[in-house]
Amino acid sequence: MAAEAGGAAGKRRIMCVGLVCLDIISVVKDFPAEDSDTRCLSQRWQRGGNASNSCTVLSLLGAPCSFMGSLAPGPAADFIAADFQRRGVDTAHVAWHPRGDVPCACCLVNATSGSRTIVLHDTNLPDVTARHFERVDLSQYKWIHFEARNAAEQSAMLERVERHNRAAAPGRRVFISKDLAQHFGYLSAPEALQGLRGRIQPGATLICAWAEKGADALGPDGELVHSDAFPPETLVDTLGAGDTFNAAVIFALAEGRTLQDALTFGCRIAGRKCGIQGFDGIV
Ligand code: FRU
Repeated sequence: MAAEAGGAAGKRRIMCVGLVCLDIISVVKDFPAEDSDTRCLSQRWQRGGNASNSCTVLSLLGAPCSFMGSLAPGPAADFIAADFQRRGVDTAHVAWHPRGDVPCACCLVNATSGSRTIVLHDTNLPDVTARHFERVDLSQYKWIHFEARNAAEQSAMLERVERHNRAAAPGRRVFISKDLAQHFGYLSAPEALQGLRGRIQPGATLICAWAEKGADALGPDGELVHSDAFPPETLVDTLGAGDTFNAAVIFALAEGRTLQDALTFGCRIAGRKCGIQGFDGIV
């Protein structure tokens, strides 16, 4: 979900609100059988989570950005905070909880197919609330992206952005992931857009990427746009490909590019990401 926050001109940032977690990634040659004991090709820790990955990509694209989400002190948070800093992502609005466990995911990346299999322990660390969000000076941001998590709190946050935007009244941009669309029973991006269009605010834009099928979007006036995928020569790592797509589309739309251009840019950058391990090298 994205809301454009109007405000003073200048170098305003893009903020992503949502999950940060620790991804412990094993890169395997073949997917292991259950109850087997195998060796992997390599292993790494990576800062993960949808909003957090999108910040990594925005930063690599050259957009000043901020992450807002929850953390609790400990070795995982130390690693995460150092990595945000290394990427130049602002964390002034991270909600630090005195106790709790930072979410952690064990991820298998199959270097032969590029598939990613994620097992996330979404701990009981509370998500950021509308009260945390009250402290954000909206005039400093040109775009705020909300990873859909805690609906009740997030609708209060969105209402605040809408009040702030009242004069400009830009429409909402809603990203639907392939996983979520499939969960609702849709078999393709165009089907998901048609099925969900009645459920979103009039004037909103719906965007849905579908891996090797590319991405489709429904604009505020009902126009449908499509971009083919840009698959790399070899698929090596699709972990965070959707987060990369979101970041690149947000980046392009925030620059004032058309929906078609933004969709094509999103597919191009996401395609590049799938051809490399991690995020370095997408630009
Ligand atoms: C990839 C990702 C991973 C994380 C998981 C959380 O999209 O953000 O980094 O482990 O999803 O759902």
